[in-house]
Amino acid sequence: MRQRIIAANWKMYKNPQETRSFCESLRKLLPIHMEKNIFIFPQSICIETLKVALASTNIKVGAQNCYFENEGAFTGEVSPQTLFHMGCSSVLVGHSERRQLFGETNESCQKKILKAQENKLIPMYCVGETLEERKSNKTFEVLETQIQEGLKDADLKKLIIAYEPVWAIGTGEVATPDIAQEAHEFIRNTLKRLGNDDVALLYGGSVKPENAGLLAAKADIDGFLVGGASLKADSFSEICKTNLTRPVDAAR
Ligand code: 13P
Repeated sequence: MRQRIIAANWKMYKNPQETRSFCESLRKLLPIHMEKNIFIFPQSICIETLKVALASTNIKVGAQNCYFENEGAFTGEVSPQTLFHMGCSSVLVGHSERRQLFGETNESCQKKILKAQENKLIPMYCVGETLEERKSNKTFEVLETQIQEGLKDADLKKLIIAYEPVWAIGTGEVATPDIAQEAHEFIRNTLKRLGNDDVALLYGGSVKPENAGLLAAKADIDGFLVGGASLKADSFSEICKTNLTRPVDAAR
């Protein structure tokens, strides 16, 4: 059975103090049995603080980015090997903000995915079309290319995918459950052709406690990658509860 996963992408928010107080609140709000399916991706400089604050929980910590080499003269980059040694379980690869603002390409994503896997980090590979691409009926073409190129030679058994339509990120405009399901089904079928459709597929883009339930009820939506609503412990814990109460197979 595929895993249910809820992930928090904190982007460039929260300093160490805010990180600690979030964790204190979350631990009061979240039943212990829900912890193991949750990931939090803080800024890299807060990973250590978050690890300490979550030490007695099963919540996993990840990084928002890494480089595709373990060490070397790469000023400013983040080593996947060091992330593993710091206790990270996962790393986001190819978030649309990295693609749009920092020149990430499918090719650089592919190198990062391989290096992350080599270092026992689960890549959470982000894919998704822009509004322009959707309007010109290129959604499936874009998704297929991102998947084919980004996942070349990758181990599909050690991977999570997040579908994040760019037009729904931080805009308050969530994809309808049907639109999200259509894209997830397409991604699932593409992965099947590549050899493993048993990959957890998360939806991301304006997820909130109010819309999480209907999205989670869709057959191919296995969880969420949450931005804005993950910054507050109460809204994040509500999303975790919505989704984790129902096993994936019940929706199929
Ligand atoms: P929002 O939930 O703020 O739209 O962000 C989504 C996202 O980018 C998660 O990676």
